Amino acid sequence: MTLSGPGVDKHPHIFEAGEIKGVKLPNRSIVSPMTRTSATEDGIVTDQMAEYYARFARGGWGMVMTEGVYIDLKYSQGYTFQPGIATDEQAESWRKVVDAVHAEGVPIFMQIFHCGAINQGNNWVEGSISASAVTPVGEQIPRYRGAGTGFQTPREITRDEMAEVVESFGAAARRAAELGFDGVEVHGANGYLPDQFLTVHTNLREDEYGGPIENRVRYHCEVMQSVRDAAPDIPVGVRISQTKVNDLTYVWPGGDDDAKVIFSSIAATGIDFFDCSAHLGLDHVFGTDHSLSGLARRYSGLPVFANGKLHDPALAERAIIEEEGDFVAIAKGALADPEWPQKIAAGAEPHGFNPGMVMPFATIDCNEAFWAENPTGIPAAPIEARDGVES
Ligand SMILES: Cc1cc2nc3c(=O)[nH]c(=O)nc-3n(C[C@H](O)[C@H](O)[C@H](O)COP(=O)(O)O)c2cc1C
Repeated sequence: MTLSGPGVDKHPHIFEAGEIKGVKLPNRSIVSPMTRTSATEDGIVTDQMAEYYARFARGGWGMVMTEGVYIDLKYSQGYTFQPGIATDEQAESWRKVVDAVHAEGVPIFMQIFHCGAINQGNNWVEGSISASAVTPVGEQIPRYRGAGTGFQTPREITRDEMAEVVESFGAAARRAAELGFDGVEVHGANGYLPDQFLTVHTNLREDEYGGPIENRVRYHCEVMQSVRDAAPDIPVGVRISQTKVNDLTYVWPGGDDDAKVIFSSIAATGIDFFDCSAHLGLDHVFGTDHSLSGLARRYSGLPVFANGKLHDPALAERAIIEEEGDFVAIAKGALADPEWPQKIAAGAEPHGFNPGMVMPFATIDCNEAFWAENPTGIPAAPIEARDGVES
């Protein structure tokens, strides 16, 4: 939908149409991936999830990215009630989401995911795998039904399993393309499996996947090559970050040199975009004049999504003007107000984020009725009573 209003004149870059490998985005605002743990226990997408995603499309976003979707019936699932795309039934259940978002004329991309060691709920297998057998730091996330305790120690992934996971990422991308998803993003960030290879303290390997950054980025490249080959006709990209869900302090030890190797070698697999997440998307990194997303643009030459507290439209506009990103991905601001783009365009004030909003999963409509009922943003009724799921 083309938006108009005083906010469009004030923030023209946000509302300029964009394109990624032929997929047209009506504006530069993207719903950033958000895990909602609202599928059935065996990973089937519910009608409520379709309605949840359709709300963003109606709200005027340029593109909707799904939550992280697991890719096999082995070790990829990280959260109970997470949706999958590993079986025909799981894949088919996404069709209603694609149709609902497309009905509003908005493209939808799927984020595909392997948790590696960050496993706090897997319906299919016991245990977890990672680049090396290193117990993750931090604790399981209670809001995603984690135990609030530490993680189990993974076993080192075998070479056969590495190849299988690469294949499964490709198979998931192929399924997504066949379902009508307009693009696919691999979750290569935030401490999940590919990022466990990139990160020095979770990758103690002595083979060609461990040691210098050229080796540690190899698994990302293999995954992206597989996804590229499996989905040649739609845009494919990867999310990259320094920090992790369980470690907000990690910084790439090689700084700008690491950034150069990471972004240029992954770009060489022929992908179409990078999505860079950071706590503050505009913060300059490694003593350079660029944010992480700015460095991704510089070293890859590809379109980049900037992310991290860009729901203030002045910051989102700045990100694009200063060439730190071509698109802005917004998470908490989108959760707080699915109509963020429409409201910004109209010069109106979107609802603000409140941590309580993370709890309602995909099943609570944070719409005008929700706000009338819950003026603080925190739902009055407990989550168990509202979605019928025990935490
Ligand atoms: C509830 C919630 C769930 C999230 N789930 C995912 C996810 O599945 N995949 C992902 O890449 N990032 C996920 N993120 C991170 C966001 O996409 C985003 O990078 C982060 O919240 C910073 O953006 P913001 O400041 O606009 O919220 C999640 C964030 C939130 C708040």
